[in-house]
Order: sequence, then C-alpha cells, then structure tokens
Amino acid sequence: MTSAVMRHTDMAETEHQNFLAWTSIKQTQVEQVLNQLLPSEQLTPHTLHSAMRYSALGGGKRVRALLCYAAAELCNTALATANAAAAAVELIHAYSLVHDDMPCMDDDDLRRGKPSCHKQYDEATALLVGDSLQTLAFEILSQPGLSNSGTQINMVNILAKASGTSGMAGGQAIDLSAVGKALDQSELEYMHRLKTGALIKAAVLLGAIGGSDAHIAAVSQYAERMGLAFQVVDDILDVEADSTTLGKTAGKDAENNKPTYVSILGLTAAKQHAQQLYQEALVALSPFGDQAKHLRLLADFIMQRSF
Ligand code: IPE
Ligand code: IPE
Ligand code: MG
Ligand code: MG
Ligand code: MG
Repeated sequence: MTSAVMRHTDMAETEHQNFLAWTSIKQTQVEQVLNQLLPSEQLTPHTLHSAMRYSALGGGKRVRALLCYAAAELCNTALATANAAAAAVELIHAYSLVHDDMPCMDDDDLRRGKPSCHKQYDEATALLVGDSLQTLAFEILSQPGLSNSGTQINMVNILAKASGTSGMAGGQAIDLSAVGKALDQSELEYMHRLKTGALIKAAVLLGAIGGSDAHIAAVSQYAERMGLAFQVVDDILDVEADSTTLGKTAGKDAENNKPTYVSILGLTAAKQHAQQLYQEALVALSPFGDQAKHLRLLADFIMQRSF
C-alpha cells in the first residue's frame, strides 16, 4: 500500500469513528427529548402512558432523528427546533410501527427486540398508543414559542402531509391492498415512497426548515432517493437477516405474501437498485462538500445496516 493510499484509509477511518461518536450523541439527545416529552406513567391513564413510553423509548436506530439533525446542521437550524422536529418524526414513526405490527396489519409479535406493543399490552391499548403518539408529535411542533409561527405552521404541514393519505398511512393502505398481487416496479415504488419515503423526506425537510431554497431543493433530492432506498434495504433484510439481528420477525413479507423489491425484482436487482438510489442521493449533496458530511455518512449507514 502506498503512503497516499494509507493516508486516505486513515482519514476514512477517522471520519467513520467521528461519525459513530456523532450518531451516539444524537441518539442520546433525541432519547432525552422524548423522555421529557412523553407523559409519565405515574399520570393517568397509567397503562396508556406506560405503553407509549414502552413503544417510543429505548429502541430503534433513530435514523429519522439523525437525518433531521444532520439536515439541521447543514442548514443552521436552531437546536430547539431540530430537537422538536427529531422527536416529532420519531413519534410518528413509532406510532406507525405499533400499528404496523397489529394482527390486522402485519401481525408481528416482535419489535425492536421486545414483544410488540399489542403483545406486551393489548390491541386496544396499541391502537390508542398510535393515536396518542401521533397527536403528541403535533403538540410538540405547535408548542407556543418554539420558533416563529409561520415556520411552525410549515413544520406541522410537512409532517401532516408525510403522515396522512399522501404519505405513510396512504402507503400502508396500498401495502395491505397489494397482498398477493404482483405489482409492477412503478406501483411498488409508489407504495414504498408513500409508506416509508415520505416520513424520511419529512425528517430531512424539517431539519432543513431554516435552510435556503438551494439547500432545501438539494436535500429533498437526497431524501427522496434515500427514503426509497431505505425501504428497498428493509425488504432485502427481511429476506437475508434473522429475527434476532432484526429485532422483528424475519421473513414476514413472504409469510404475508407482500410484494417487495425482492419478490418483484429478485435479490440481486434489488441490491443494484438500492445502490443506484444511493449514488443519486450522493450526487444531490455534492454542492455542499464536507458540510453535508453527516447526511452523506447517514446514506452509507442506511445502505450498510444489518437491522
Ligand atoms: C422500520 O424502520 C420500518 C420501516 C419503515 C421500514 P426502522 O428500520 O427505521 O426501525 P427502527 O426505528 O430502527 O426500529
Ligand atoms: C413498514 O414497512 C412501513 C411503516 C410505515 C411502518 P414494513 O412492514 O416492511 O416494516 P417492518 O419490516 O415491519 O419494520
Ligand atoms: Mg408493513
Ligand atoms: Mg411490518
Ligand atoms: Mg419490512
């Protein structure tokens, strides 16, 4: 190995170590914010509050929060705004997982390495946990004095659209109606963009809320590509990983007869497609160089994750 190559390798290693330290700080940060904002289980209704905390705290990779913080750094968004946005997106995401696991949807007993909410509590509680996490997210974004009211209305609007029928909930409806069907690639892409891509894009756009038009246009491109890539990788992991590593039941997509990137394209083409989306996401960040370092490294993280 030449010394130039060595230096390059050392630099990449240092960058990776710094990134891991950054992710750990930010994961702790959003956990603390969520811990403060979620109602105490000492308050009535105790069981609902306990189940909300069970489902939203102490688990998950916090990818959406990390994307939000990374976009906030690029766009110089105020920390209080970024904290509120990161927490709000993670709450919507946690709600989507609680409902996704219920017997009327994917029927999965395992989530984040623990019994799913409806197994640990019961189905009615899981339903109300989803409702309550969702409304808490909007309570956080609309809290008086967080930012100027125009910005806050914008943030509420971004998250509402990404969560509703043109986003996550709409994508979940398409997912359920697609059981047993062989969708074509554009139908599959549409479903994935809605059910997973929309909330990932919202995480980035909320973090970028203080940014210039050029910043927002670029991070939107990045987020659209990585939002879709995220679900393609999720489909691949459902086939390639085991339940212990995933912390949720492996093989659920095939068991439930869901069309996925793997069932429609095959493993090799699904991996190639994810790679192509990743490359396009990096191109979108190229004008910002090192300032977009954490968004770039998060794209690597999304591609290389094992759960
Ligand atoms: C899983 O999301 C559900 C999808 C939208 C694919 P994550 O893989 O981000 O789940 P956690 O938050 O890390 O548990
Ligand atoms: C979930 O997709 C998307 C959501 C909106 C929750 P999946 O059903 O594939 O997510 P996992 O694999 O159960 O986490
Ligand atoms: Mg599902
Ligand atoms: Mg599922
Ligand atoms: Mg999945």
